Amino acid sequence: MTRYTAKEIRGLVRADRVHRDLYEDPGIFELEMERIFGRVWVYVGHVSQVPEAGDYLCTRIGRQPVVLSRHDDGEVHVLYNRCAHRGVKVVNEESGRARKFMCMYHGWTYDANGDLDFATQLEGYPSRLDPVEFGMGRVARVETWRGFVFAKLSDGGPGLAEYLGANRQVLDDLALSAPDGEVELAGGVHRYMYRGNWKFQVDNLSDMYHPAYSHESSSRRDSGEQFARRKGDKGGIRFFEGRGRIKSLDPLGVSALPNGHSWQGGLPAIENTSDVHKRYVCLLEARHGAGKTRQILTKTRHNVIFYPNMAMQELNPHVRVIRPVACDLTEIFVYPIRLKGAPEEMFRDQIRMINGTHSASSMVQTDDVEAFARAQEGLLTRGNEWLLLARRGPEETDPDTGRVRSIGTSELAMRNHYGAWVEHMCRAA
Ligand code: FES
Ligand code: FE2
Repeated sequence: MTRYTAKEIRGLVRADRVHRDLYEDPGIFELEMERIFGRVWVYVGHVSQVPEAGDYLCTRIGRQPVVLSRHDDGEVHVLYNRCAHRGVKVVNEESGRARKFMCMYHGWTYDANGDLDFATQLEGYPSRLDPVEFGMGRVARVETWRGFVFAKLSDGGPGLAEYLGANRQVLDDLALSAPDGEVELAGGVHRYMYRGNWKFQVDNLSDMYHPAYSHESSSRRDSGEQFARRKGDKGGIRFFEGRGRIKSLDPLGVSALPNGHSWQGGLPAIENTSDVHKRYVCLLEARHGAGKTRQILTKTRHNVIFYPNMAMQELNPHVRVIRPVACDLTEIFVYPIRLKGAPEEMFRDQIRMINGTHSASSMVQTDDVEAFARAQEGLLTRGNEWLLLARRGPEETDPDTGRVRSIGTSELAMRNHYGAWVEHMCRAA
């Protein structure tokens, strides 16, 4: 495997461009698994996915299989999904509830906190097997914010609150928009792969330059009406206005935050006059009063990136998890977020909308993943070694949060991703 020196890594990212090796070189991908996914806070799941003792969810941190589990004492753990005996992956269902985790090879069993519960034919071992030393192993650090679980495979570095910075407010605001004050991931998951590097999806989530072009077929009036029909709402929702309106996304702005996080400004308020929305507003007003409810419903962000592997959409709430598989292969998970206490019909409409925009057969995300696959292929050419991220506009910085804001179609947030990328990749440990 090619190893890169810190100087060589820094040479791959310039002020306004990044080198094609970031996407095409398996050696860079290996280093990303070690130095980004192996060291920073990575999103794992939500506590609502493991509500009861014994509940579990299998996922990965980078390429490493892990299990999010809830122990008898109610605590949530993130375990390495590996048997202490000879390394066999212990839990193989996507999710479920189990009294114990049992390895299929020689039958060792583990508790939901990862401790070894029982090793078969113990008399064959020269001494007692310590339940922690011979457990599945818990990852170094696990912390939650508003029920969203993040884990870090290495010790040291900032705590989760510091790492998330101003993005904590995003999760706080999301909870406020639920009449019961909390959210859950519900309604299933959309799951698909694309033949492209994971960073294409991260960048795309802060890209307001592309919608009028990539999604032109979804932006025409007749497509808008299709969205409307899917929603069953005559007034309809029209997200895009076609090529002629590209500049309209500039006023929404894009924001770059420390540690590689970013968000797009909120899309224009959707006028929703449906009965179900009125009921939802009444529920919020009962809890917060009219003034604060108006504030809660005025969305100021669209896609929010929790660097490196999670994004959340405020407009139609869902979590997107970006799982790198290889330098040219990525898996995406889309989980609807249910605002607890909101009318059930509202959640059904939300799922219909996600089906239309972010499923594997949707009218929007399919365009994006096609662009990612074509980028992966285009970058095989050696005619030009660089990708350009030079679009910019006036920038202003908030000294309290370190947030930098610019016009919507600026590539500011992408430059910010690669600034964080370089720092993570060059950090000694
Ligand atoms: Fe798991 Fe042997 S590998 S019990
Ligand atoms: Fe897109």
